[in-house]
Amino acid sequence: MNTHKFLDRGRIIKSALCLLLAGAGSAVLAQSDDRSIPTYSKDVAPILQQKCLGCHNPEGIGPMPLLNYQQVRPFAALIKDRTTQRIMPPWHIDPTIGIQQFKNDASLTDAEIATIAAWVDGGSPEGNPADLPAPIELASGADWQLGSRLGPPDLIIKSAPYDVVADGQDQWWTPRVKFEGLNGEERWLRAAEFKASYPLGKKVVHHGHAVLIPDGERRQVALARYGVGKSWEMYPEGTGLRVPPKGEIAWNLHYFPVGMSGNDDVVEVGLWFYPKDQPPALETAGESMFRVDGLNGMARGQDIVIPPHGYQVLQGTHVLSSPAVIHSYRPHMHMRGKVMTMEAIYPDGRREVLSQVNKYNHNWQISYLYADEVKPLLPTGTVLQFTTVFDNTANNPINPDPNQWVVFGRRGVDEMSHAWVGITYLNEEQYAQAVAERQAFQETLTLE
Ligand code: HEC
Repeated sequence: MNTHKFLDRGRIIKSALCLLLAGAGSAVLAQSDDRSIPTYSKDVAPILQQKCLGCHNPEGIGPMPLLNYQQVRPFAALIKDRTTQRIMPPWHIDPTIGIQQFKNDASLTDAEIATIAAWVDGGSPEGNPADLPAPIELASGADWQLGSRLGPPDLIIKSAPYDVVADGQDQWWTPRVKFEGLNGEERWLRAAEFKASYPLGKKVVHHGHAVLIPDGERRQVALARYGVGKSWEMYPEGTGLRVPPKGEIAWNLHYFPVGMSGNDDVVEVGLWFYPKDQPPALETAGESMFRVDGLNGMARGQDIVIPPHGYQVLQGTHVLSSPAVIHSYRPHMHMRGKVMTMEAIYPDGRREVLSQVNKYNHNWQISYLYADEVKPLLPTGTVLQFTTVFDNTANNPINPDPNQWVVFGRRGVDEMSHAWVGITYLNEEQYAQAVAERQAFQETLTLE
């Protein structure tokens, strides 16, 4: 009896174990078989690799590295939040209006956002590590970002050394440094990259310009303009910036103290030129300032008067006196800036929103580089109209104080309102040719 009972109990325990095992087994199966729950290894890691790791690595500007499951898992909910809100990766173009093809598009696709959300909602499973994508090589902060595409720069220019202070308000460093050119010759610039020192400069240089003032010429040649989110510039193939043989570089560097100090900090700008015997067909004006504030002889920024807890809308119009092609768009406002729209009003009256940034965030200076096939091609007489919206309410998450009246100024708590537009002016013949090329390209598209 007793033995029997014991056996019975044994059998019951055994079958319960079997059930449990079977249950666990089917749960494991369900997870790897159930295609509706993405896994980190198979589905999420490839997205992070492509769209996040450039900044979220131990040396990058992202606050936490996201290199492996252990690092990513604690941030799963936050990652879902920032990606579904389209706050991360930083890309502030309104996806519902205007041109959407960019050379440097950093945004996630709707499908990628949905994959991340489904992964988090499904409990953020790791999945099978065998599914992980091959690791990618991450650029060091000390490397030229354009180096992998263009090789080392042809010429490197350097700012005068600066002693970084740990604390205090914004610091401005504006040395003038002689420019000797490349072998004393005029050359055509193809690309330029602004590189703060690593690691200190990357943390404390907030933004900066290196503008060349040529000897004996009345023009300024902006070699490089830098802000967080924009460190290089590359002109379209066949378009270049004419760089004189000699002059002076006017550096304008904005250091923002972050509690670290260091002596002799130097900023470098790398320059890549077209080969001497292959000058580009088109001379670009480079990134040019289009004001969206007091125009027609008014002092700059005179129109900016934003009431406490209120909004202000400003418009600036610029008539093109020759045809032009636009290769990039970079709005510039400060902490109250929310929206900047660039619209073309063509000579025949037709209007077209070219681009609208509707999630502007002063912490990021992103230059939106149009894909070659869609660069706005504008005839003489086109009006470029820019519209800025300032939000000085408490709803603006980076508003430092909605009780203030806000006017123009160069501190982040004051405002600015202009766009940097990468523009190349054409003559009528070049314009006709560019229009014909565009049409031919569009015809091949419809044939496909
Ligand atoms: C160009 C650099 C860059 C890229 C690309 C980028 N991030 Fe970030 N990320 C940052 C920086 C800088 C911050 C902190 C400042 C901020 O929020 O703007 C941040 C903040 C975050 C935060 C909030 C962290 C916190 O503690 O509040 C999350 C989550 C995040 N990123 C996830 C991602 C994901 C996921 C991707 C890719 C889909 C991504 N980021 C792409 C630079 C980047």
